[in-house]
This record gives sequence, structure tokens and C-alpha cells, in this order.
Amino acid sequence: MSRIFGEISRIVTKYEGFIEKFIGDAVVALFGVPKAHEDDPIRAIRAAREIHELVEGLGPQLGQKIGQPLRMHTGIDTGLVVTGEVDPEKGTHGVSGESLNIASRLSGLAKPGEIVIGSVTYSQAEGHFAFEGLGPTKVKGRAGPIQAYRVLSPMGEPSKVHRLHGMRAELIGRKVEMALLGEALDRLREKEGNIICICGDAGTGKSRLVEEFKATLDLEETQWLEGHAYSYAQNIPYFPLIDLLNGVFQVEEGDPPKKVKAKIESGVEHLVGKKEDVLPYVGSLYALSYTAAENMSPESWKSRLKDAVQMILSALARRTPTILYLEDLHWADPSFVELLRNALLEIREPAIVLCVYRPTFNLFTSHQLRGIGKIYQEIRLQDLSPSESQDMLGSLLKVDSIPADLRRFVQDKAEGNPFYLEELVNSLIDSGTLIREDGNWTLIRLVSESDISPTIHGVISGRLDRLEKEEKRIIQEASVIGRAFLYKILERVTELKADIDPCLRVLERLDLIRTRPLQPDLEYVFKHALTQEVVYNGLLKKERKEIHERIGQVMEQLFRQRLSEHYETLALHFTKGHSVQKAVDYLIKSGERSLKRYALEDSHWYFKKAFDFLSNRPNKTKQDNRLLIDLLNKWSFTFHYRGYFYELNDLLGSHVNLAKSIDDRAKLGMFYAWMGYALHYVGRLRVGYQYLRESLHIGEQIGDKWLIGWSCAFLTWTCVDLGLVDEAIRFGEKGRKIIKRFLSSDQELFFVLTAGIGYAYFCKGQRAETLTIGRSLEDFGHRYSNSRSLSMGYFYIAASHLISGSFLSAMETAKKGVHAAKEPMFAQNLRIMFGLSCCFGGEFEQAEKPLREVVTYSKKFGYRTVEVPAYGLLGLVLIAKGQMKSGLKIIEEARQSSLENGYRFCHGVLEYILGKMYSQIFEESTPLSIPVVAKNLGFLLRSVPFTSTKAENHFNKAIEVAKEIGANGILGQVYLDLGLFYKTRKRTEKARECITEALQIFEQCEAELYLKQAKEALASLN
Ligand SMILES: Nc1ncnc2c1ncn2[C@@H]1O[C@H](COP(=O)(O)OP(=O)(O)OP(=O)(O)O)[C@@H](O)[C@H]1O
Ligand SMILES: [Mg+2]
Repeated sequence: MSRIFGEISRIVTKYEGFIEKFIGDAVVALFGVPKAHEDDPIRAIRAAREIHELVEGLGPQLGQKIGQPLRMHTGIDTGLVVTGEVDPEKGTHGVSGESLNIASRLSGLAKPGEIVIGSVTYSQAEGHFAFEGLGPTKVKGRAGPIQAYRVLSPMGEPSKVHRLHGMRAELIGRKVEMALLGEALDRLREKEGNIICICGDAGTGKSRLVEEFKATLDLEETQWLEGHAYSYAQNIPYFPLIDLLNGVFQVEEGDPPKKVKAKIESGVEHLVGKKEDVLPYVGSLYALSYTAAENMSPESWKSRLKDAVQMILSALARRTPTILYLEDLHWADPSFVELLRNALLEIREPAIVLCVYRPTFNLFTSHQLRGIGKIYQEIRLQDLSPSESQDMLGSLLKVDSIPADLRRFVQDKAEGNPFYLEELVNSLIDSGTLIREDGNWTLIRLVSESDISPTIHGVISGRLDRLEKEEKRIIQEASVIGRAFLYKILERVTELKADIDPCLRVLERLDLIRTRPLQPDLEYVFKHALTQEVVYNGLLKKERKEIHERIGQVMEQLFRQRLSEHYETLALHFTKGHSVQKAVDYLIKSGERSLKRYALEDSHWYFKKAFDFLSNRPNKTKQDNRLLIDLLNKWSFTFHYRGYFYELNDLLGSHVNLAKSIDDRAKLGMFYAWMGYALHYVGRLRVGYQYLRESLHIGEQIGDKWLIGWSCAFLTWTCVDLGLVDEAIRFGEKGRKIIKRFLSSDQELFFVLTAGIGYAYFCKGQRAETLTIGRSLEDFGHRYSNSRSLSMGYFYIAASHLISGSFLSAMETAKKGVHAAKEPMFAQNLRIMFGLSCCFGGEFEQAEKPLREVVTYSKKFGYRTVEVPAYGLLGLVLIAKGQMKSGLKIIEEARQSSLENGYRFCHGVLEYILGKMYSQIFEESTPLSIPVVAKNLGFLLRSVPFTSTKAENHFNKAIEVAKEIGANGILGQVYLDLGLFYKTRKRTEKARECITEALQIFEQCEAELYLKQAKEALASLN
């Protein structure tokens, strides 16, 4: 057995794999560690096939010895494995990963002589072998079934690209290159030869270009010969030449040695006649032995082989115009490259020699090129331009319109590399992220790192693995800095200071990185975002952490003078470097900065991250706790802007005790202010009010003007909703005296306070004051491009129209406000105002949609203070549509809710609305419209008899509430409507009393239109 194991080791090593262990009669081999290649799955299958052949060859002999037949079966899977240190000499420690388990199960599935592989291995080896699908298969240790495939045989002409979804783009761009090849063909017809080298990065489309060119040829007229180099065959001498000769002599994989010999001998004879100069040398490539080549020095053998090859090629070229295509020479073994170079330098017969390789390779030195002259041409394939990439995406997906986020993603990630582009799209489809519905493609969720195809990873890791140790380290360190990295940072971060310049030069030459033009400081950028990601992800977590931390420290040093410009980057590096103190510091600073720029999502993200760090920290110090409360106070602003009240309330609510425990009154005071604010919005007005009074108290105690300002600002709102309108105005005035000093440093304070005062005036029905506030907010909004202030400006201007009874103007202004509002919360405020104006103006139909939007939004985010009135108004709309029962039910619910929660103002308005509804039902109860009656018959029969009493009761309740809270605007209207109601009931005296009350109030409030209506109503009584 030890002999077999020795042979197996040799085969695995040949494919640059690595024997992990022998267990009993089983072997575990890994491919991809310690060295990754882009074709590791293919290497694994090839190695397995060779091992099978070996065992089969030795089988009978050994079988006799051990008394039973010896057969092999193999399982292969591809995926992530975790390894400790990998050292081919000493072995590995602790290799683990699901793939190992699956591979072992697959090997259990394989019958004697079979190789069974998993789906990722399959997709990466597709095109190289013929497979047979075994269908979904259950294996132990896996919940769902897995796809398994049996390896049948290698393909004659392997193709590297797998096309999972049968999608292929038409050839995009490449017109110049195609024309160049076409011209060479014309010259070939004129008996003029050319050497054309196509050079480009992995996946730029070299093979595709050649394929397209080949498709233009008439293969009867032109002879096409090709030889390929493969990554797995790099160490097989003359592999591309053998591949080429296989084509010429029609030698097939699996031909027995005798047949090979016969084919070669007759082929050579037929071509060159002079067998003795050719056969021994070519034959030795096929392990055929001829005495002439035996005992020859390697040098002379080499030179004879070259002559032989030249003879064969010349003979071929003499027959017909010939194109010789040599693909992927970067993988060719050095001896073949040398032979090719020499053969080409001495080329006699006209032919096109098409050499394709990646930029890691160079066929000729510049000195040699000068000798070759004009028959040499080079095509450097570049990435596709952004518009070409988009065309390619369209052509791949076969649609004209592509979702914008997909466009963006592909542009960012693939950046013009056709292979990456194809693979990205493939993997998005595979992972179910990109789906096709009714002929259109949709991205159904955010794209994540895991959506990037393992094949791309393979290609990139393969390239990286061929770097020298120092180059690899430098590029790894650079990847931690980011996609773009400054030389001066890398220089200070790296441990390899002496190597940095030559390494960067190499990386640049390999086109992995590029210098950024026109930058004041030398800066590099990874050519592809994916390269940076793969390099970065290839680092162990521990290494990444250390490098991040070092980068953070270097940046702090380097940018001492301009630290604030780098907060976000510093936050990132210290976060990833796990330096909690610094990370939190920079995260908070970044959060504040984003908030200033009104980047709310970013700001939220930074604060949240800082919060998670701090709150998860074990054994928190006093300092930590103070920092945490300070953070919550700052973070609250993002909740305020985003209108996430439930979340804020929960967050703050769970930290009240902690806030009380810190010895910092100013921070505690602000915490209370936010707590009060949050409670107000989630509808717990009275408790909220207590917190706000407490925060004001603390502010006054310690003389903190800013805290006083904010407490007053929040109190104005809470007081109005609680029906303490005069108190609201007093807080408003108090705040106003203070905030002037903060006008430049804290605009939001000015805004919240001013709008709060406006709310009080609106509630009091003071038209002129409401209008003044509206105008000043509008002005402030324009001056500072503050959309919140602008939209609330419109809110109060609309409110002033409402007070005066000009509903149409109110509706128009509110609509303008909805458009001006950039944040959802403010848009809701304006929608409510619009809905209210519609309802008052009798335009119920227009009100429904916006009101429903308000209800949905406020339910979701806990904006209770608008939810209740919106609900009430919606009830009104339903009634107007004839759905009396459900409409009244909703209004009644809203009334209850406002009663319970202490929304006095809202309560007053709802009582008024109910009164008005019942009075209308009552008034129309004689000539009620037929559809309304038909719909509501049962309901009307039951309630109509009481509508009159109900109307009166609700009106009176509304008067009571409005009087109590000083809501004069509503009060006037209730009096007027109650007066009119009495008038229809012929209770003229009562009617006169009410209308006179209304008249006086309207005069006070300067509500001109209502005043006019009231005057007319009074006159009609006489
Ligand atoms: N101009 C193009 N228009 C449309 N599709 C393209 C274009 N160029 C390349 N492709 C597609 O992108 C994929 C990758 O191209 P190709 O295999 O030719 O790259 P390559 O340069 O040969 O890469 P490698 O160095 O790995 O061999 C293929 O599926 C190919 O069809
Ligand atoms: Mg190729």
C-alpha cells in the first residue's frame, strides 16, 4: 500500500494539491491550499482520474496479494475550508469545513471506479469534462438534497467559460480589433505572414475575440491549428505543443500507445517525408522511444525538436494559408515558450501566428521585437467602456430596460470586465437575487458579498497566488486601506518598507493596481473593486484586524492637522481593528457629521454601531455610561428627523435608570427632554409632559440655556396636544428669548420652537399670528434650504386660511407643503392639513387617499399624534361616501382614543365633527338621497330618531373642550354650526345666542370668511 500512497502523493503534488491525511485506505487531498489556482476543481478531478488509472493498473497485481480486488471511488466538493497552518512538510492542523464532509459522503455514493462531484465543482469544471447528473441526492449531515454528478470523460476541446443559464451576449465593441485581424487575413492571402499577440487581463475577451474571428473564416480555404496551455498543465513540459500536434495528427485522449505511434508516424511521413529528422524528437513528446534520440544531450535534443517542429509547421503552412492559434501562453511551460520564441524568430513560411496571453507574460523582449519588425502586431484588450458594459448587460439579459440598481451594481463591481459581468449576473440568478418575472428582471434584495461567484474568486486568487511573497503582502496591506490607497499610508503601515517600491511597480505592471492621475499625493487604486475584495477576504480575520488598527494609528498621525476630514475612515479602521474607545469616538463624530449633512441613514448607522460597541462592553466604567447617554442624546436627533418614534421611545425607555445614575446633570436633562418628546409622539402625553417639566427644571437649575430652549420647544407641542394652549404659548415665549443665540449653531431648535408656537396659535384660532409664524418658517426654510421649516411654513399658512374659512386656499397651500416636505414625517403633517381643509371644504373625495397614507405611516412608525386625527377625518370621508356605519364607528374610536390619551385639542375637533355629522343627517333626514338611504337603511332607522339629540350633545361637548383649552378657532365654528342647527329646528333664540358668540370669536380671531358667514346667518334669523 505504501507504494500506492507514494504514487498518489506524487499525482496530487503534480497538480499542486496537497495530501491532508491518509485514514486507513482513504486519502484526503486538498486543492487550493496552500496555493490557490483558478482551476483547482479541474485539477482535483484530473488528479482523481490519474489516481483511478494508477489503481486500475496496479489492481490485478495487488489484488492477488491482498486477496480481494482493489477498486477506487472518489468524492469531490468545492467550498470553504478552514485550515490552520498549512505546511507541506509538517502537515496541517485542524482542517474543517462542510465541504470535507460532503466530499466524504459523495465518495460514499460513488460506485467502484467512479468519481462523484458536488454542484460547485461541477459548475467550475463544466466544459472540461463530460458529466452525468445524478439528480438531487440526500446525504447525511445535510438538511436538503444536494446535486451530484458523475465524471464521465474529459472533453476534447475544453472551454473555460461555464454558462449556467445559457445566456450569452452578442459581441460588444471590439470593432477595431476585429478589423486588425481582418487585415492580417487579407495579407495572409497575399502570402504575407504576421505574428499577432492579443494581451489582456483574465476575462477581457481574448478567447471570445479569437472565436469571433475564427467564425469569419472559411475553414476550407484557411487552415486553423491550435494549441492551448492550461493552468493545471503548467508543469508539463511542452504541453501546448503536444496539444497542437494532437490536432495535427489527430491523436485522441485515450488512444493506446500503439495507435498513437501509428498516427504520428504516418502523419509525419505524409507531411515532411524526412522522418528521421522529425520522428525521434516529436515521438519522445509522446513517450515513444527511437534510438536516434536516446542518449542525446538535452541541449541538442531541444534544438532538434525545434527544427522538427519548424519543419512540421512549415510543411503545414505551405499547404494552405494557415493560422496557428496559441492560447493562454501565460500558462505555458518555459521550455515550450523558449521553443516557440525561437521558432517564430526564424519563421519562413507566411502564416498568422495568433498568441494569446494575460499581461503577466511577455512573449518577446523589446530587443527581440525590434528584430522582428513589422510582421509583429500587438492587440491590448481593454475593459469595456461603461456604455459598452451596459450594452453587454442588455444583450445578456435580452431586455431593453434593466433595473437601475442592477446597472449600478454591475458597473461598480464588474467595471467593464466581460467575464466578471457574466459571472456576476449568473451568480445573482443562482442565488435567487435576480429574478425574471413577466419578461422583466428584478433585483429582489440587496446584493451581498456572497453573491459574488466563486469562479471570480478563483480567477483572482489564482493571479494573486503567482505573486512573490512580498508583493502579495503589500497588496494585502493595501487592500485593507481600501480600493484606493495613498502611498504615504501604505509606506507607514507596511512591515516591508524596503520592498514597497519594487513591489508596487510589479503590481502596477501586472495591472492589478494603477496610479491615480492628477492627485496631489501619490495614490493607487485597485483596477477592479473585486480584486481588492478578494485580496481583503483572503486575509485571516486576525491579520485584518491588526492591519486595520495600524492603519488607524498611521492616519491619526499623518492627518493630525486635518483629522476631521477623516472621521469616517478612522471610524472604519478602528471599528474593524476592534479598538473600542477610538472606534466609538470616531463613530460618534462621524454620526454627528452625517447628521449635519442630513445623511440620516449614514448617521443612524454610525450611532448604532457606536451604541452596539458601548452597550456590549463588559464592565462598563462611569465614563462609558456617561458616553452612552451622551450618544443616545445625539442619536435621538436621527430618530427625530426620520420620525421613528416607537423605536426611540423603546431605546430611551430602557436607559432611564442608567441616565439617572450618571453624574452629569446637563446630559440627564437632555435625556429627559428626549424621553418626554418620544413619549409625546407615541401618545403618552401626560408622562411625556412630566419628563419635559423635569428637563426644563434641570436646565434652569444649572443655567443651561440650550437645554432650556429644547425643553420649551418640546413643551409647546405637548402642551397644545394636552389642551394647555396658554401654557404652550408661555413656554414658547420663554424659549424664544433664549434661542436667538443658537440661531446659527442650532437651526433645528429655532424651527421646532417656532413651529410649536404656531401650533398653539392655530389651536387658539388666531389667524394673524398663525400666518406670521407660517411666513417666518417659510422664509427660514428658503433661507437655509430647510425643507422641514418650509413645509411647516406652508402648514401654518394653510392653517391660517382654514381659520378664516378659505378652504380652497388652504387645500392649495397644504398641497404645496406636501411637495416641499422631504421627510415622510413632515409630509404626513401636511397631508393631515390637506385632509382637514378638504373635509371642511366638503371635498371629501380628494381627502381619502392622503389620509389613508397618513394612517398607514403613523401606525408603522408610532406617530400617534397624527394617527388619531387622521383616523377621525377618514371616518368623516367614509360617511360622505355613504358608509355611515363604519365612518361613525371610526370617528367614535378616534374620539375615545383622544379622550384616553389626553389629546384634548384633537378631542375637541372630533366632538365638533361628530356634532356636524349628526346635524347633517338630521337635516337631511327628510329628503335624504336615495343611494345613501338604501345603503344605510338599518343604521338610519336605528339612529335617526336620536340624531338631533346626538348632534346637540356633541356640539356642546366640543364647546366645553374648546373653551377649556382655549381653542377659539374651533370654538367659533362650533358655535356657528350649532346656531345654524338650532335655526333649522326653529329654535331661533338659541340660534341667535350661538351665532352671536361665534361672531365675537371670529372678530377676535380675524376669521374674515367665517365672520361674513356668521353675519349672514344672524341676518337670516331676523
Ligand atoms: N466584447 C464582448 N462582448 C460580449 N461578450 C464578451 C465580450 N468579451 C468577452 N465576452 C464574454 O465574456 C466571457 C469571458 O471572455 P473570454 O473567455 O474571451 O475572456 P479571456 O480574456 O479569454 O479570459 P481568460 O484570460 O480567462 O482566458 C465570455 O463568456 C465571453 O463570451
Ligand atoms: Mg481565454
